[in-house]
Amino acid sequence: MLLPAQIIQKKRDGNALTEEEIRFFINGFTSGELPDYQMSAMAMAICFQGMNFNETMWLTRAMIASGRIVEWKRQAGLFYADKHSTGGIGDKTSLIIAPLVACCGVKVPMISGRGLGPTGGTLDKLESISGFNVNLPLDKFQQITDKVGCCMIGQTAEIAPADKKLYALRDVTATVSCLQLIVGSIMCKKLAENVDGLVLDVKWGSGAFMRTREKSAELARAMVEVGKRYGKKVCALQTDMNQPLGQQIGNALEVRECIEIMNGSAQADDLLEVTLALSAEMLLMAGVAKNVADARQMLQKKLASGEALRKFAEMIAAQGGDAKVCDDVKRLPVAKQMKPIPAPKSGFVQAIECDQIGYAVIALGGGRKVSADKIDFAVGFEQPKKIGDTVTAGEPLMIMHYNDAARALEAEHMVQHAYTIGDKPVTARLPLIVQKIE
Ligand code: URA
Repeated sequence: MLLPAQIIQKKRDGNALTEEEIRFFINGFTSGELPDYQMSAMAMAICFQGMNFNETMWLTRAMIASGRIVEWKRQAGLFYADKHSTGGIGDKTSLIIAPLVACCGVKVPMISGRGLGPTGGTLDKLESISGFNVNLPLDKFQQITDKVGCCMIGQTAEIAPADKKLYALRDVTATVSCLQLIVGSIMCKKLAENVDGLVLDVKWGSGAFMRTREKSAELARAMVEVGKRYGKKVCALQTDMNQPLGQQIGNALEVRECIEIMNGSAQADDLLEVTLALSAEMLLMAGVAKNVADARQMLQKKLASGEALRKFAEMIAAQGGDAKVCDDVKRLPVAKQMKPIPAPKSGFVQAIECDQIGYAVIALGGGRKVSADKIDFAVGFEQPKKIGDTVTAGEPLMIMHYNDAARALEAEHMVQHAYTIGDKPVTARLPLIVQKIE
């Protein structure tokens, strides 16, 4: 057996590792026998040299084996499906998808994450609902999923603890945006969750970990392949993240937008489109709908009838939260101040550095600079100008919700710098949903 430093050297020099070497590293790191500095060096070596498909599979397998695998009722007619996004700005589809798909008879257990870098996190959004508990033990998670139809929690100590520990290390060693490490990290949690079907929303663009379409397609293909090798139904939709999704960005604001989409009082075509496309794939996998058109019709009906919103309220109540927010969004945290952010010049929005909008939310206090930071749920932005929109100098690029004037000043500059405004109209629009990978 090689020493840890020799295994790091092997990867550093571009050689493939064996399953035994990967297992030795992950097991040692999880138990604490292998120090953080050796795991960090290994993660960095993987970032530079990559891993082949077998190594990625072995990494995923070793991380799954570090914890428990959830066992669901294997009963005829029951199908468990999850959706996972690689992360974005204003990306709140999970909050609608879980209750909406559950209304159609599919069980939706979701193990979600917190904000990572500039991207928002489903758990932080849910915690803006007073009392909502995302830290349920696995047996309660299973009970609620089976009874209500959906449940949304965070990664527990029982699910892939190796990933939980490795993720924290990657976050502070600039080793997050590494394709193979992302595949292992996402898929080990989803495979330990042990659902029958998984739909992946793999983002690309200025607000995504993968900046190019090619890299994000590569990530999607690798995740789909790992899922299939585990016998799961899995597909990925590659979607655009070059601008915020929907009309609200920030934790409580995003919950409000989802409730308002589900009660029919708000419109956000892009958000609805991605939500319906992902949900339809879940219904197809479950065999609940014959084709995408049928699935979309079924989903639209559940939205229009208010069933999806009632299911969301039922889930909130089951998880200890204030379900009355579904009838009265004013029960969500509200910032003390609002201010339009003026466009510095007139023209057409050519591009948005979307990650900078995410960092502006963090600057306002709506995300974490260090993991111990407490989040101000109320802050964020609404009504962002989107690519191709016309603006005149002084007209709002978006409306800021804030509680601290100094933080607001910094966030305002960040938003203004994130926008590229030019003289030429934008003729070529980027497709919202690029392709399906299966
Ligand atoms: N989400 C995860 O869970 N892990 C990653 O590595 C990236 C996004």
